[in-house]
Amino acid sequence: MTSPSDIAAPTAPPPVSGVGAGLILRAETSADGSAVETLNDQAFGPGRFAKVSYAVRELARFRHDLSFCAFEGETLVGSVRQSEISIGGKAVLFLGPFAVSAEARGKGVGAALIEQALKSGSKAGFPLVLLVGDLALFSRHGFENVPAGQISLPRPFDPRRLLWRPLRKGGEDGVAGPVEAPGR
Ligand SMILES: CC(C)(COP(=O)(O)OP(=O)(O)OC[C@H]1O[C@@H](n2cnc3c(N)ncnc32)[C@H](O)[C@@H]1OP(=O)(O)O)[C@@H](O)C(=O)NCCC(=O)NCCS
Repeated sequence: MTSPSDIAAPTAPPPVSGVGAGLILRAETSADGSAVETLNDQAFGPGRFAKVSYAVRELARFRHDLSFCAFEGETLVGSVRQSEISIGGKAVLFLGPFAVSAEARGKGVGAALIEQALKSGSKAGFPLVLLVGDLALFSRHGFENVPAGQISLPRPFDPRRLLWRPLRKGGEDGVAGPVEAPGR
């Protein structure tokens, strides 16, 4: 497992990949925070803070280093965030929010962000990524429904939207019980 990222991220991480002409992906920095918040406001609206995902993130540890921004030139066009949580004593990643600006949708920015997030989580040694979202959207990235009753969240949720994606063979083993704050 790499070092926890409550340590501040470097201010200018190198681009990790270019996706199509002019698109750059790189790890999120503290300086990106307000642009990411604006993007998420536009994508999800003010009601987003009531979602169960936000209750999970309240107890999670945000991982700058495993969260990615997509830029066209200087403009932020997409973001995926990941946070660390604990389930059954195992450190796992919680993915979200995940959004692409309305003008940039439908050309693979979202897919590139998800694949980069999964790759980084795997490289950091995490066994699994959990999220609350549409199976129709995330199944193309290997996410599946969590078996009913296996994981509980801090608030009521629709079990059909609780998805996981093991990052290695058997990554889901022992990942059962309530979502808790990450261990120290
Ligand atoms: C979801 C989102 C991030 C995808 O970004 P994107 O850059 O358009 O993604 P891509 O271009 O890589 O992929 C688009 C594909 O996802 C599909 N898709 C988007 N949202 C979907 C959904 N909720 N359910 C099923 N499929 C969905 C599109 O129809 C498209 O399908 P196609 O490739 O077969 O044409 C973007 O639509 C968005 O920001 N939506 C609003 C916020 C949101 O819903 N975030 C996910 C929260 S769980």
